Amino acid sequence: MSLFQHAIVRRPCPQLAEGLTSVDLGKPDIQIALQQHRLYIAALQICGLEVDILPEDFRFPDSVFVEDVALCTSRCAIITNPGAPSRNGERNLISSTLEKYFNDIEMIDFPGTLEAGDVMMAGEHFYIGVTGRTNEAGAKELVKLLYKYDFSASLVPLTSFLHLKTGVSYLENNNLLVYGELEDHPAFQKYNRFVVPKEEAYAANSVWVNGKVLMPHGFPKTIQAVKEMGYPVIELELSEFQKVDGGASCLSLRF
Ligand code: GLY
Repeated sequence: MSLFQHAIVRRPCPQLAEGLTSVDLGKPDIQIALQQHRLYIAALQICGLEVDILPEDFRFPDSVFVEDVALCTSRCAIITNPGAPSRNGERNLISSTLEKYFNDIEMIDFPGTLEAGDVMMAGEHFYIGVTGRTNEAGAKELVKLLYKYDFSASLVPLTSFLHLKTGVSYLENNNLLVYGELEDHPAFQKYNRFVVPKEEAYAANSVWVNGKVLMPHGFPKTIQAVKEMGYPVIELELSEFQKVDGGASCLSLRF
């Protein structure tokens, strides 16, 4: 596995409370969100990443979830085409930043839609969720692009999750957190799987960064399981992002 050197994040904007959500946990408090975001950045820095911090953009309430607008691989970056109409314009905000780090930048275009929360990298292979945000055309476009750069990829049609990584996280070394409709999915049987209990579903979105795992605070069974797999865990308060369907991976691009 190769280590990450960089991360890109975007500060949350005061309009975060207008972000898309499917949960009823109340509105996020922007001051608390900003503090949680600062600690998230510090965690990435502890993991050895140089963090490029983009300014907030009040036009896009969900733009703090920067992971969805691009897929950053070791060989290229791919700007996505978010399927949520209120988020689609976010794709236009990322190219100049990616140009600092990548020579090869590709794009997903209509009729394909794709959000990279639906893309999970496991070594040289990429799993692509087909969801309400990523359609089959977008997923197939991404497969073609990944093949061009000598990666492999496969589609995972989903019925209930917002994004693929809502319910599965690859932690390297063949270890996986998995939840809900993906628990028994044939694509993931070859991994050492920890099935996240229902009451801890939010922790299924955790993120491996250079040997450590960033996890949301307050999910003791899953945190213990990850520690027993041998990883140091950095626990983060992410309550304000959870209120708008955002998790540990959604808040950064890592490469
Ligand atoms: N609020 C995150 C999203 O729905 O994309």
